[in-house]
Amino acid sequence: MTVCSAPGKVYLFGEHAVVYGEPAVPAAIERRARVTVDPRDDDHVRVTAEDLSLDGFTVEYTGGTGDRPDVDVPTPLVDAAIGYVDAAVRQARAAAEEPDAGFDITVESEIPLGAGLGSSAAVVVAGIDAATRALGEPLDRRELADRAYRAEFEVQDGEASRADTFCSTMGGAVRVEGDDCEPIDAPNLPFVIGFDGGAGDTGELVAGVRELREEYRFAADTVRSIGDIVRAGEELLADAVPEADPSRELLVELGELMDFNHGLLAALGVSARSLDTMVWAARDAGAHGAKLTGAGGGGCIVALDPHEETSTALSFTQGCEEAFRAELATEGVRVEE
Ligand code: PMV
Repeated sequence: MTVCSAPGKVYLFGEHAVVYGEPAVPAAIERRARVTVDPRDDDHVRVTAEDLSLDGFTVEYTGGTGDRPDVDVPTPLVDAAIGYVDAAVRQARAAAEEPDAGFDITVESEIPLGAGLGSSAAVVVAGIDAATRALGEPLDRRELADRAYRAEFEVQDGEASRADTFCSTMGGAVRVEGDDCEPIDAPNLPFVIGFDGGAGDTGELVAGVRELREEYRFAADTVRSIGDIVRAGEELLADAVPEADPSRELLVELGELMDFNHGLLAALGVSARSLDTMVWAARDAGAHGAKLTGAGGGGCIVALDPHEETSTALSFTQGCEEAFRAELATEGVRVEE
């Protein structure tokens, strides 16, 4: 039995603009997906997934050869989860050059599904790592991140950036610009996350930004300004002491950039009433800045607050289904005992 876990992530800065070649800085959070893999004697794949969403569900199927299984599943989110596990299986088989390898796979996750926290990336990264290790062919991290990206790319019909999978593999904060991905130093950022219980449609939201950008020069300028915010944020992080508690001054400065970033994302039409409400509730509670994270349209916001006030305030905010604190996950994918 091989067990691997990988963290989810928030975007500190730069979602959407990253699609047009601007840099982005995602950061891994201490909320993990855990994947347990047992090789089988035949070529079948059985996936058991419990508590993959906040409501929890169980689904189990026996697939044939790793092709997309045709099973009745309760929700589109569950369907998507199975699609990601299956893509991970295909990548692991290809990496280990064992096209007929069969597995029993159990997926557990603390990361809300489809909400901009990189749940699918964490499942894919942990799944490929566990399956290749179970076959005696562990991958180095760069190859693992690349294979996980290819799995996401396949499931999402080409609409995937490398940000989620690279961040989940490496942990900590990373910088992504096109195909260039590098880990960067970061202090222990005190994230607070608010989740509205929903999820935006990433494809639609990305298409909306593309249209605005083509129609209005000022929308293209907005995208470029988000890139400027990312570069300013990177400078702040580079000057901070890595893996130490950040100074109040640093949190104030990062928070200001996050607020600015949220405003520009809202201008590009990817916020939502629930996200704006949570952003304002976090700021009112004293958070050092707050912004939506991920594609937007619904899902999660991220704020910076080393104290309890913001998560408490968010948990009483109408439209916020769950609020929690999450430290920066310095460790990316790892083998669990
Ligand atoms: O919602 P998420 O975490 O999948 O993030 C989407 C981020 C976008 O920049 C909008 C799209 C992308 O693939 O980078």
